[in-house]
Amino acid sequence: MIESNIPIHIIYASTSGNTEFVMDKVADVWRKNGRKVFLHRSEKTDINILKDNKYFLLATSTWDHGTINPFFERLLVEMRKSNFSGKSATFIGLGDRRYESHYFCTGMTLLKEVWEKSNGKSLGVALTIGREPFDEIIDKLVRDWAEKTLKLFEEN
Ligand SMILES: Cc1cc2nc3c(=O)[nH]c(=O)nc-3n(C[C@H](O)[C@H](O)[C@H](O)COP(=O)(O)O)c2cc1C
Repeated sequence: MIESNIPIHIIYASTSGNTEFVMDKVADVWRKNGRKVFLHRSEKTDINILKDNKYFLLATSTWDHGTINPFFERLLVEMRKSNFSGKSATFIGLGDRRYESHYFCTGMTLLKEVWEKSNGKSLGVALTIGREPFDEIIDKLVRDWAEKTLKLFEEN
């Protein structure tokens, strides 16, 4: 059971601001539900944020031919050398199938693989968003996902 004083740390990479926009929305939902939430841009995130905390949302967009957003690369290298046993994370990926559909959101897939190979526990189903996130349909999708996912944190 999550204790209300244990924060959720959102760590994300975003180039044109789409992922950042979605992260602000998730943080808004969780804060309105009384959770403490911290937002971190991946390129400014020390690995100790992951080592010293327990609950996370990890999110990234995918760029050139299926690669993780370059802003996540340095932290990803450090994550490969870490042990996340006892920690839980959920995942969001932003992408676009028009850039080679077989590479859709593969940056997020890689991030999740690295987390799990380093013994991190993944909660629920990762959310993927395949277009600009600025309309009411995506707003509802993200808010519903955030509500559901918060319950998963509470159960784990
Ligand atoms: C040059 C370029 C390459 C891209 N390559 C991919 C890709 O391989 N796979 C994918 O799913 N999305 C791809 N995208 C789509 C982006 O991931 C998508 O626009 C995303 O919303 C950007 O989020 P950000 O602003 O948070 O970085 C690409 C976009 C651009 C402009």
